[in-house]
Amino acid sequence: MPQPSRDALNAWIDANRDASLERLFAVLRFPSIGTDPAHARDTRACADWLVAELAAMGFAARVVPTGGQPMVLAHHPGDGSDGPHLLYYGHYDVQPADPIELWETPPFEPRLVEGPHGDRIVARGAVDDKGQLTTFLEAFRAWIATTGSLPCPVTVFLEGEEESGSPSLEPFLEAHAEELRADVCVVSDTGMWDIATPALTTRLRGLVYLQLDLEGPSRDLHSGMYGGAVLNPLNTLARLIAELHDDEGRVAVPGFYDAVRDLDTATRQQWRSLGFDGAAFVADVGLNAERGEPGWSTLERTWGRPTLDLNGLWGGYSGDGSKTVIPSIAHAKLSCRLVADQQPDAVIDAIQDFVAERAPADAKLTWHVFGAEPAMSVPAEQPFAQAASRALEHVFGKPALMIGSGGSIPAVAAIKRHLGCDSVLMGFGLADDRVHSPNEKFERRCFENGIRAHTALLAEVTTLAR
Ligand code: BES
Ligand code: MN
Ligand code: MN
Repeated sequence: MPQPSRDALNAWIDANRDASLERLFAVLRFPSIGTDPAHARDTRACADWLVAELAAMGFAARVVPTGGQPMVLAHHPGDGSDGPHLLYYGHYDVQPADPIELWETPPFEPRLVEGPHGDRIVARGAVDDKGQLTTFLEAFRAWIATTGSLPCPVTVFLEGEEESGSPSLEPFLEAHAEELRADVCVVSDTGMWDIATPALTTRLRGLVYLQLDLEGPSRDLHSGMYGGAVLNPLNTLARLIAELHDDEGRVAVPGFYDAVRDLDTATRQQWRSLGFDGAAFVADVGLNAERGEPGWSTLERTWGRPTLDLNGLWGGYSGDGSKTVIPSIAHAKLSCRLVADQQPDAVIDAIQDFVAERAPADAKLTWHVFGAEPAMSVPAEQPFAQAASRALEHVFGKPALMIGSGGSIPAVAAIKRHLGCDSVLMGFGLADDRVHSPNEKFERRCFENGIRAHTALLAEVTTLAR
């Protein structure tokens, strides 16, 4: 089948921009908070809605139940020409909306708000990841409307547990490996360099997420009767947590950096050439000083160095006023971002040993592991990455930058492991999109350029031999 002209595709995208936006709004209205059992029905309804949309476009689409949130799985045979088989991955679950009172408009009532780059789409999930997964769905729609089909076989797989660490993903990939087999996986769940400059993300950090419960006395105690004479779990936990870093900001856990390779000179140079403004990066979140592990720039710290961060710390009394109590138990949630070659299990062991060695005799330690994913890099030279790069250049009129990312997408490593295919990370988010925060947004311009870029990617990849 002959390829549609770029003009025909762009004309369809322009003529249908309001309808595309309305479909995005429809998916944004589902409060598909995958981690919250109270929203299980909403999450399921969102999956059903996506299945119906894909089916209406001619995909064989279905919901695949898992032990957790369902997967959306859909296949389009293409027009019979001998193109590569593409797998598209995205996630339809979103982060919880809280703190809800900080939203200027309700999180699940999407709207357009005027901003410096024109209209922005404001809603939970606007950019992460409903707006981005809609860019490829609308690109398929444009292509099908223009030609009657797709230029190659396409499989779409959308999960509902990405924001909870993808617990059902591995068994799903294992069980459906044959059905999911493809030449490359395309993911839109990352960012651009800036609104005018497209980017391909070539590396993601891994993630280890732990909870530590530290139990001392068998019940809460009067701090006058017992204070100073027994182990206080909160005091102890605070001390242990403080010892995890040295005074300069390095992680003090022995072995933590053992597998970490220094960034190679070429990578450091390429990143330096991007001209990242670290001062502006911190100023954007109300801070004055860049800080972190010594010897590295802010960009290197976020893209190329591992971290250990506390995500929550609680116990005892935190209500109004005061209560004199020695709590029986204290808790911490902590996570590490990992870089290439760090083994999640080795990092977990190192942290657990470190804490165990320093904990006093009566402290009972209980660990929960909520996630353990290695870092991931995707070769920028592979033909599909090059095709994506050309597609982006067509749309934006300038070359795509190769960038890193501090975030994690567990599926990318899992897809490589189970299906053996690399991913192309072509994202359209911006640094100020408030991902996971109140008033999350997606620039309408980014949304529409994303649709254009995905049609351009289809055009590019179908010129590649299988
Ligand atoms: N889309 C993000 C990852 C991301 C964020 C990539 C920013 C590029 C830039 C993804 O939805 C996410 O939030 N991932 C979690 C993973 C975790 C819940 C297992 C993360 O990075 O914290
Ligand atoms: Mn995401
Ligand atoms: Mn996210």
